[in-house]
Amino acid sequence: FMGVKLGILGLGTVGTGTVKLLQDKNGRHPLLQDIEIYRVGVRSLDKPRDVQLPEGVITTDLEGIVNDPEIDIVVELMGGLEPARTLILKAIANGKHIVTANKAAISRFGAEIFTAANQAGVYVMLEASVGGGIPVIQPLKQSLSVNQISAVTGIVNGTTNYILTRMQTEGSDFADVLADAQKLGYAEADPTADVDGWDAGDKIAILASLGFGGRINREQVYCEGIRQVSKTDIAYASKLGFVIKLLAIAQNVKNGHRDNSLLSVRVHPTLVPQTHPLASINGVYNAILVEGEPIGQVMFFGPGAGEGATASAVSADILNLVANLKTNHAHLNPTLACRHQHYSEIAP
Ligand code: NDP
Ligand code: HSE
Repeated sequence: FMGVKLGILGLGTVGTGTVKLLQDKNGRHPLLQDIEIYRVGVRSLDKPRDVQLPEGVITTDLEGIVNDPEIDIVVELMGGLEPARTLILKAIANGKHIVTANKAAISRFGAEIFTAANQAGVYVMLEASVGGGIPVIQPLKQSLSVNQISAVTGIVNGTTNYILTRMQTEGSDFADVLADAQKLGYAEADPTADVDGWDAGDKIAILASLGFGGRINREQVYCEGIRQVSKTDIAYASKLGFVIKLLAIAQNVKNGHRDNSLLSVRVHPTLVPQTHPLASINGVYNAILVEGEPIGQVMFFGPGAGEGATASAVSADILNLVANLKTNHAHLNPTLACRHQHYSEIAP
């Protein structure tokens, strides 16, 4: 075993956190010794960086990274639809395994990416794409796989939960709090994706695909953000015994006959009773409540965004791949759609 060479696309919030974790070889994880950060692709070579990398590792030639025969794993942390999609597909065609945090690309191009990965015999790992540092993708895909899932309900956007929490607890103004979330590295490059619910829409599309099986058409997911939520709404909700949360929901809206069940997949501000487990999830924290049979209810909770938390999930995916490459075993299921329930359409 010759070790594993990584090509990382992106050295922003998540890329920086991931490089820091991978470079910390002081007993954090034995397999870190086997990893070499071979190339890191960025847009600008002039930006100051918060990590030290050897001369020549940072490059603007992202095509060069995905075509480099030396590289085993491409870690896509640049975000956005293009050129991320094309670069991921080229890397797969070149036989490279993929780790990505890019829910926007996976929720839209997941079928294309996973078909290509299956054909090429490579893995696509996406733990960081939903819930930041929360392990939810692998548990939903593997540990809960025998369950019949009836609903997945979550707070899956850290930025908006942070904004709503501060509006509620401090009476802060939306714009000021959004600026803080951006400074803390929680928000997307274009924070409209957070505020208008699209990021949560991407994530619930991925969770629905995992939980219910099959392909979820991202364009059919109803998305309404928090722009219209005012401090007054929050105050009235509180008086009535509710908190306002941006919930992402995927639920089976027809009980019984599996063959023609309908899925409702949606994101919108919701009045959540103060006694509900999701009501107490505050700040950048996320939580995903999964309901199924026979398990009942399971809730995943943790930091939903930010440098360290997200890097934790990305690094776990990388280490999983390295462990597999090292033992030459193929335990991981590379497909997103690993269940056999069939949903003919998404409910309006
Ligand atoms: P940033 O905007 O902080 O970083 C993006 C990085 O990608 C930058 O280094 C940028 O280069 C590089 N990049 C972007 N586009 C290009 C391009 N066209 N060519 C070359 N380089 C490019 O993003 P984040 O780190 O916050 O997010 C990365 C991914 O992780 C996204 O998919 C996001 O949705 C996801 N994610 C983010 C979380 C968070 O808390 N921030 C949490 C979970 C997932 P340069 O530095 O030169 O500008
Ligand atoms: N912008 C996203 C959020 C990052 O705030 O949740 C984590 O996916």
